[in-house]
Amino acid sequence: MELEFCAPCLFGLEGPAGNELRHMGLKNVRAEDGRVYFTGTERDMAAANIKSRFAERVLIVVGRTEAKDFDSLFEGVRAMEWEKYIPRTGAFPVKGYTHRSAITSLPALQRSINKAVAARLGRAYGLERLPETGETYQIQFALVSDKATLYIDTTGAGLHKRGYRPAQVEAPIRETLAAALVDIAGYRGKGDFCDPFCGGGTVAIEAALAAKNRAPGINRTFAAESWKNIRADWNDVREEARGREFDRDYTVFASDIDPEAVEIAKKNARRAGVDKLIRFSVADAGKFALSTNGGIIVTNPPYGERLLDIRAAREIISAFGKAVRARPGWRVNIISSDPELERYFGARAAKVRKLYNGMIKCGYFMF
Ligand SMILES: C[S@@+](CC[C@H](N)C(=O)[O-])C[C@H]1O[C@@H](n2cnc3c(N)ncnc32)[C@H](O)[C@@H]1O
Repeated sequence: MELEFCAPCLFGLEGPAGNELRHMGLKNVRAEDGRVYFTGTERDMAAANIKSRFAERVLIVVGRTEAKDFDSLFEGVRAMEWEKYIPRTGAFPVKGYTHRSAITSLPALQRSINKAVAARLGRAYGLERLPETGETYQIQFALVSDKATLYIDTTGAGLHKRGYRPAQVEAPIRETLAAALVDIAGYRGKGDFCDPFCGGGTVAIEAALAAKNRAPGINRTFAAESWKNIRADWNDVREEARGREFDRDYTVFASDIDPEAVEIAKKNARRAGVDKLIRFSVADAGKFALSTNGGIIVTNPPYGERLLDIRAAREIISAFGKAVRARPGWRVNIISSDPELERYFGARAAKVRKLYNGMIKCGYFMF
């Protein structure tokens, strides 16, 4: 069956997310602010979930409707073919957001959409009350400028949850963002790679996964795997993805000044199955001394949230800048919320991309 999908992603990652979906052979890929639309089959749904490095989740687009008031919303939602997706016993909780629209109350919107879907399904199945005892079909809505788009989530826990990072360190970067930083920097498994402020190792692990061409979702499950009406051979997609892995030698370095962080990073890498690809060490990035014939650094140094910390963070960046410039051959890429990063690093970036790390507005400084 040909379906329309929407893959939300972090703001600023629409380009990489669109490109990877195109690369998977998906059709009608169209990027908007914070999301990428595409069309495909049930198998494409499984492939996008298992293989995407940059998307946050994969939603089925059920329909769109005008929603200036509750009546038009209810009628529009009831007219959608919910029975195509949700079986007789399916549970269908509703959540979403509203923006620049006449209807602003989220609980009222949830209730109205829930009633409209229940009315449609009740009629389709000849039931007055739906049991909702089966698997979950999480309905999502986006009400923007009085137009509602209705989705069902195929993913479950967000795609950034690869399954390798239960151990927490301070200020970890989201896996999807780390993967995109590696991609934007142009690392494809050739030459050296290094993260000298590695924390829990996310950037280095994502670099190693990308180098090996390992599908990031290969070891986890997804909401749509238990669905009855929309089915795909998920294990076949996993097998196919496994068959596309590379097994070469890679040189990925990861270090941090904090020995505890390095221990956690090692454990995370082991869980991700890439510990043999990464050389971990405890080291001060202010004394960076790795030589290379050509390598890429992608790193997420401390930003310093409070004033005192900002001064300390800038001192660290100054020392790192001096040390890394004395070691030519490295292309340095830094994500930071400090607008004056270039001044303290001691060079002008060739390019600065605007990104968000969680709620923090950042620049990706590419030297
Ligand atoms: C924002 S965190 C990195 C988080 C990491 N990207 C992750 O996902 O877990 C910054 C890291 O820089 C480390 N750090 C601070 N000063 C350092 C220095 N002089 N040399 C190396 N690492 C340092 C901290 O220990 C911390 O783990």
